[in-house]
Amino acid sequence: MMRTTLALCAVISCGMIAACTAQPPTPDEAPQTVHAELGDPFAAPADAEDLDPADDIVRYQLVADELEGDTRYRYAFNGQNPAPTLRARVGDTVVVELTNQLAQPTTIHWHGVAVPWAMDGVTWMQDPIAPGETFTYEFQVNRAGTFWYHPHFNTANQVDGGLFGMLVVEDPSDPIPDTEVLLVIDSADEFLGDPDAVMGHGGGMPEDGAGNHFGHGSERVRRTWYVNGVEEPELVLPAGSTARVRILNASNTGYAALRWPRIRHIANDQGLLPSLQEPERLVLAPGDRADAEWLIDDDGFVVELDPYSLNGGDAYGPPRTLMTVVADGGDPAPPGLAWPFGGGEPTADPGSTDVLYAFAGSDRTGLWMINGEFFPDVTIAELELGQTAVIEVRNLSPTEHPFHLHGLHFEVLSVNAVAPGYRRVEDTINLKIRDVVRLLVTADNPGDWMAHCHILPHAEGGMMTVLRVGE
Ligand code: C2O
Ligand code: CU
Repeated sequence: MMRTTLALCAVISCGMIAACTAQPPTPDEAPQTVHAELGDPFAAPADAEDLDPADDIVRYQLVADELEGDTRYRYAFNGQNPAPTLRARVGDTVVVELTNQLAQPTTIHWHGVAVPWAMDGVTWMQDPIAPGETFTYEFQVNRAGTFWYHPHFNTANQVDGGLFGMLVVEDPSDPIPDTEVLLVIDSADEFLGDPDAVMGHGGGMPEDGAGNHFGHGSERVRRTWYVNGVEEPELVLPAGSTARVRILNASNTGYAALRWPRIRHIANDQGLLPSLQEPERLVLAPGDRADAEWLIDDDGFVVELDPYSLNGGDAYGPPRTLMTVVADGGDPAPPGLAWPFGGGEPTADPGSTDVLYAFAGSDRTGLWMINGEFFPDVTIAELELGQTAVIEVRNLSPTEHPFHLHGLHFEVLSVNAVAPGYRRVEDTINLKIRDVVRLLVTADNPGDWMAHCHILPHAEGGMMTVLRVGE
């Protein structure tokens, strides 16, 4: 854990990183100030301080609070946007004491982590944490990966308002890069409802994913993207160095179609891929994560965003700059690191279907359904503990939807009847318009697991259901 801090401190000597401290920053130091200029310095979300001396327990304190004054976000954990990074190693017990200083109830959901159901932060048959109360979450992390945490109550408002951060589970057998770069990307101010109202169906304004809100006459607002709370930051890395880049799209509704030269994709939602992938670009839907490897030469590069709309994928217009990587020095690119990729072929589709989810709805009504039902008035699909099952998800609506499943993960068997080129294990998968995806799950974690669209106004518009894994 010291390693990352040291690596980032080393970069400070280049004079570009604003803050490097093991202590949680005070609200004044936290990267929540509005930066409007191009080329602002890059600051990774600071790590939270581990309060437990034991080797296999990490204990963190989080306070959800409202922000005062002229800040981009309305809320923060520990005064910080993005929230503090929580770190653990595979096998660790994670203990998080959450104190709610908001004026409304809240929870934390550990997105992508198979926690016991009582720790999942959902309000389906569980009470949220009332204002002024403290709740202690405790769970073990058995899979390495780039996960994240966010409230699961009044979610569109609270996540848009700034309550999100990374949960990094490290695998000690991974190679150690020169730098670990955390990119929490977000577009703020997507929630157009009343932040103090607890939303039922139809929360927030419908929106097309390119940042264009429908409604308000035909006024359209261009989405602004932030990296770690900063617009178009500049990160200086030494030429000849390696970096592991962990990327999270924490946006409520925005798709990040990321492009940079020679992408080396090493991990997705649920950890290392079976092999190195070199796609043309990485499309992260809301809630998605990806890890990449950067091999810095003496050139530097720009990370760009392709125009992308949830009303049909590729949109018009030139790519725009998300951030710039500046190389310091003249060294050539180093060789790639020896990632312990697991290999393995995609599992063959057994052909049967155990659970079918049909997504339907429309921006015009702001009503979004699964199997014609609106959460919480849903039919509960049930699996037996230990059962291996196929979930088929069909998108019958005129927009894309990232399907997310709590408590379990899935292997992608096929997208539109085509098996993936490598074994893909994930917890969030995007469905383009008319897509049919088939997912293999092992029902090894008992509980009532939310299955929903991660476009948060869609989830709050009703596009959420419950998958029960029996004891
Ligand atoms: Cu990231 Cu049900 O959520
Ligand atoms: Cu959706």
